Amino acid sequence: MFNKLEAAGQNSDIDVEEFIKFYLALANRNLNHLGRHSENVQIISDAIAENYGIKPPERQILKYGSLFHDIGKMSLPSEILNAGRALTSVEFEIIKTHTMFGWNTLDFFHSLPTEIKALAMTHHHRNGHGYPKQFIHKIDIDALLVDILTVSDSFAAIMEPRVYKRPLNEAQALAVINDPDNDKNAGLNRGVLEVLKHLVDNKKISLNSFF
Ligand SMILES: [Fe+2]
Ligand SMILES: [Fe+2]
Repeated sequence: MFNKLEAAGQNSDIDVEEFIKFYLALANRNLNHLGRHSENVQIISDAIAENYGIKPPERQILKYGSLFHDIGKMSLPSEILNAGRALTSVEFEIIKTHTMFGWNTLDFFHSLPTEIKALAMTHHHRNGHGYPKQFIHKIDIDALLVDILTVSDSFAAIMEPRVYKRPLNEAQALAVINDPDNDKNAGLNRGVLEVLKHLVDNKKISLNSFF
């Protein structure tokens, strides 16, 4: 499966790792440290995947799915992404479209495995508790990979500083993501959360600093 991605790099003279560096730098410069967020999500999701014993082809899918999961934000107005205030309900509806734009953007990379596009489309789905409610494309992806990416994305976002919130340390972020009274945690995979807690407790995750 991943061979398709490698083959794409070789046949079209695109070095995939170079392309990723280019994307992450662009995302950092234009989109409020989105590149560093994406790298953090990749670090967390890979540590969880390793703990589950997920095999290399799926781990590669998860790696690239994690790095590109928010690429659809590049299609959204920077005035909304960098608003520096709470968003209106209409603006939040626009933010939700980054999942669909993620699929559409990655679709330009014709040889990219469909699973990577599916991860961009589903990373806020939260087993029906999030968005989008329906998919316009056929989604064929291992649900565990989606759940790992969703938990990793949420955990990274909770830890990272935002214009409207202070950063949290790992223990504080674990408490937030495991809070049963927090509606934002609906649909998160409990097993994946337990693996995350095990990794944090044993200091197996070390993220990029935002400072
Ligand atoms: Fe996202
Ligand atoms: Fe994200």
